[in-house]
Order: sequence, then C-alpha cells, then structure tokens
Amino acid sequence: MSQKPLQIDVISLFPEFTASIAEQGVVGRAIQQGKAKLNVINPRQFSTLSHQRVDDRPYGGGPGMVMQFEPLQAAIKQARGQSNDAKVIYLSPQGQSLRQEAVRRLAKESHLILLCGRYEGIDERLIEAEVDEEWSIGDYVISGGELAAMVMIDAMVRTLPGALGGEQSAEQDSFEDGLLDCPHYTRPESVAGREVPSELLSGDHKKIARWRLQQALVRTYLRRPELLDGRELTDEERQLLEEFLAASE
Ligand SMILES: C[S@@+](CC[C@H](N)C(=O)[O-])C[C@H]1O[C@@H](n2cnc3c(N)ncnc32)[C@H](O)[C@@H]1O
Repeated sequence: MSQKPLQIDVISLFPEFTASIAEQGVVGRAIQQGKAKLNVINPRQFSTLSHQRVDDRPYGGGPGMVMQFEPLQAAIKQARGQSNDAKVIYLSPQGQSLRQEAVRRLAKESHLILLCGRYEGIDERLIEAEVDEEWSIGDYVISGGELAAMVMIDAMVRTLPGALGGEQSAEQDSFEDGLLDCPHYTRPESVAGREVPSELLSGDHKKIARWRLQQALVRTYLRRPELLDGRELTDEERQLLEEFLAASE
C-alpha cells in the first residue's frame, strides 16, 4: 500500500530559493516519486500595502523591521486549505534544537506548514495565535528561516520509507540509534600511506558488524559523550566500549 505523501507548505518571502530544494538530490527524487509534496507561498500576495510590503517598524523603537501578523495569517490560512490537521512550525533560533527524534516524528505528520521569518522576526501575536511548534537548527542566527526550513525538509524527507532508494536506509545514520555513525572507507585499499582497517577487508560479516558498532560507540563516547547519558548500553556494547578503553589506557 503506498503511503500518503507528506504535504509541506513553506511560507517564505523567497519562494524560488526555497522551492529550489525540490530540484535535486534525495528531496527532488522523493517529490518526483510522490513521497512528499512541496508548495511555497509568498506572504506578499496577501499584503494590502504599497510595494506589497509585509513588514513594519517595531513598537518600542529599535533597529530592524518585523513581519506583520495579517499577511502571515492569510498565508497560513491558504496553506491549511481544507485540511484541519496541519501542524504550523516556526523556524526560529528561539525554538527547541532540532534533533533526529523530532525529525522522525514530524515526518510522520500528514501536513506541515513551515513559517520562515526574516528581518528581526515575526509579530509575537502571530506565533501565539497560529504556531504549534518552534524549532531551531542551532545556537546561531541566520538571516532568514528559509535555510532552516530546507534543512528540516531534507532531514525529514530522507526518513520517509524508500526515499533513499535501494537498500540504503536512514536508520544507519548518526543519531538514529543514539550513536554517531562509524567511519567509512572506499577504494583504494591504501592511499597516502593510510590503510583501510583490516576488519573491513576480512569478509567476516559478524566481525565487520562488531567493528562498526565498536567504532560508533567509541566515536560517540569521545565526541558526544552526552548522547550516551540517556542511552542504556547492551552487554555487547558495554563490553566493546570497555575493550577500547582498556586498550587505550
Ligand atoms: C535574523 S533572524 C531573527 C532573529 C531574532 N531577532 C532573534 O534574535 O531571535 C530572522 C529569521 O531567521 C530565522 N532563523 C534565524 N536563525 C535561526 C535558527 N538558528 N534556526 C531556525 N531559524 C532561524 C527565523 O525564522 C527568524 O525569524
């Protein structure tokens, strides 16, 4: 049975830029295959001001401009269309940090409306009235929500069943099972005086799987130890990690 496509509407002042994510790669293919649908709405079309302005000066003074309530609400209304189960997401540096669990959860929704801010951001009352969730792509500020929306779309679409094609699966990626991915190698076997780890050349699938798991555990332990805090290790995982730690003492 084919799954209903994930409908994504993006509200953006830069529709061509935003829509360019549908032109290539994993997202482009998934859209062509009907796994996801992308529609971009420019809130300028709902402006009643001259030059289709959708921003104004901030109350209280200060630098920058603020995106106005009405055009954004009208754009959200159009994006909702007939659906009454759309989830409205504001991409914002003040949101929760986007993580793989959230990406997977959101990719299972049927309809997402991604709201991209510009300038100083958007009128707070619009967030109160319309936004269900706020997500950040990291603790830094970018000039607009478009790149953040594109990051989110790419991350979600690659988790859709079959989106990566063939046998490849997003489940082997970093964070999926709470660990970073293991290192990868390809031909040639020897390059610039560096060799491919012998385990990967052994042809012994159990040995390879064990080596990969150990590498993933060690990488996570060394680079992102906090990821291990909330994750219960199996006996095998604990043994592999202890083996590494004992060898490096
Ligand atoms: C220049 S930023 C506004 C930043 C806002 N004045 C603040 O400091 O919280 C303009 C828009 O870019 C987007 N944006 C900026 N940084 C982001 C981040 N880390 N994650 C997601 N969206 C971001 C948001 O949509 C925001 O409304």
